[in-house]
Amino acid sequence: MRADALVLFGATGDLARKKLFPALYEMEEAGELEISVFGVASSRWTQVEFRANAETAIRERIVNVNEEVLSRLLDELHLVVGDYRSPETFEDLRQKLAGFALPVIYLAIAPDMFATVTQGLADVGITKSARVVVEKPFGRDLQSAIDLDDSLKKLLPEDQIYRIDHYLGKESVEDLLVFRFANTLFEPVWNRNYVASVQITMSEDFGIEGRGKFYDGVGATRDVLQNHLLQVLSMLAMEPPIALSAQSMQDEKIKVLSAVRDLDPEDVVRGQYVGYLGEEGVAEHSDTETFVAMRMFIDNWRWAGVPFYLRTGKKLPETTMEAVIEFKQPPRLLFSHSPSKKPLPNIVRFRLGRLDGVDISLQAKAPGSDLVTNPVDLTVEFASALGDRKEAYERLLDAALQGDHFRFTRIDAVLQSWRVLDAVLKSPTKLHPYFAHSWGPDESLDLVPGGWNNVGIEASLHKTASDS
Ligand code: BG6
Repeated sequence: MRADALVLFGATGDLARKKLFPALYEMEEAGELEISVFGVASSRWTQVEFRANAETAIRERIVNVNEEVLSRLLDELHLVVGDYRSPETFEDLRQKLAGFALPVIYLAIAPDMFATVTQGLADVGITKSARVVVEKPFGRDLQSAIDLDDSLKKLLPEDQIYRIDHYLGKESVEDLLVFRFANTLFEPVWNRNYVASVQITMSEDFGIEGRGKFYDGVGATRDVLQNHLLQVLSMLAMEPPIALSAQSMQDEKIKVLSAVRDLDPEDVVRGQYVGYLGEEGVAEHSDTETFVAMRMFIDNWRWAGVPFYLRTGKKLPETTMEAVIEFKQPPRLLFSHSPSKKPLPNIVRFRLGRLDGVDISLQAKAPGSDLVTNPVDLTVEFASALGDRKEAYERLLDAALQGDHFRFTRIDAVLQSWRVLDAVLKSPTKLHPYFAHSWGPDESLDLVPGGWNNVGIEASLHKTASDS
């Protein structure tokens, strides 16, 4: 059954401004919303200020705003102001929701408040019929995730909990499944016999953008590696699900995540950009990492011995999200008379962020009398080839309103991802400084014997432009 109200906790916060209001606008424009939206926040804003903030957020991110759609949406926005620890806030919300049968409650708040707010909702009976969407990170480590799950489960059954990871709403990430399991070409070679290594890079050229207080308590590992990057790893490494159901997908993810070896501290490099300690909200001697690189291994038949390199960081040279599959050299190197002309391995490069698409690097004969090879790229940008994609948050909000768990995470998979990282979260490795606009500490370059292989979006586009 489709929900008939949406309640956003954290409605005056960063996530609401950057992602949720623009997503609501897109849904309203597509005729998919058609429900009242209640914001809950502790900031003492008026209704007018709340709507003005939503309007600014939408105008900042949507080009060619349709004024009629915007004003229709703004009319449907209502603010409930109150402390998240105070019973009056929840009583007020209960009264506002009195005429609604099935609200979706979205917790876009600090992770340490999830249990408190859910308890407040339960105390006034809202959880009886509501779906509760919980933002990531779900916990801080394995034990706190278990504890959080225990406290939520006392108040709500699993099928009313929607753990969000917005990378699961990205069409480019879902495309990994289609690429692997709808093309005969790749699946036979997608294993340790043919793949030399896998690299996943999520880099951002900006810093913490006023989120110092949140970010300093979390760091790169908990903010994105435990969730976004491990989801991408699962999509690249899992076996085909037996059906496209939430349960089959989650069953395969849990299998592959369970096979990921506990991290060895030797395989982790943490970094912090120079200048981070001066950011607002950051503790004076903070040990929080703004960069992390890791080498992981998956101990199963498909992937034994294949290193998976993951890295992410703030203030790197560019904003890009890439997964690179490097294949092994062909067994007989017919064409490697001279070491400098040795053929490069085949590479499949998924661009999962802005201007998503895929590049496949092949070898072709270089012009001339010698039989030497030259790399050539087959490149596709999905939006030009297939049309525009929907934003992740639009798809996920819609799925939560519909009650579809397919794009949300199940608790066993969340716990497995914390299990992999647990030792290095408990005893963090040395923190190395790095300069803004570098690719992180040098130690992270040494982690990968052949070097990191991402070319980034700018280089890909440059290549595409010069190829055409
Ligand atoms: C969020 C993180 O989950 O993902 C942010 O908290 C990060 O730190 C963001 O910037 C990146 O999302 P996207 O969709 O822009 O890659």
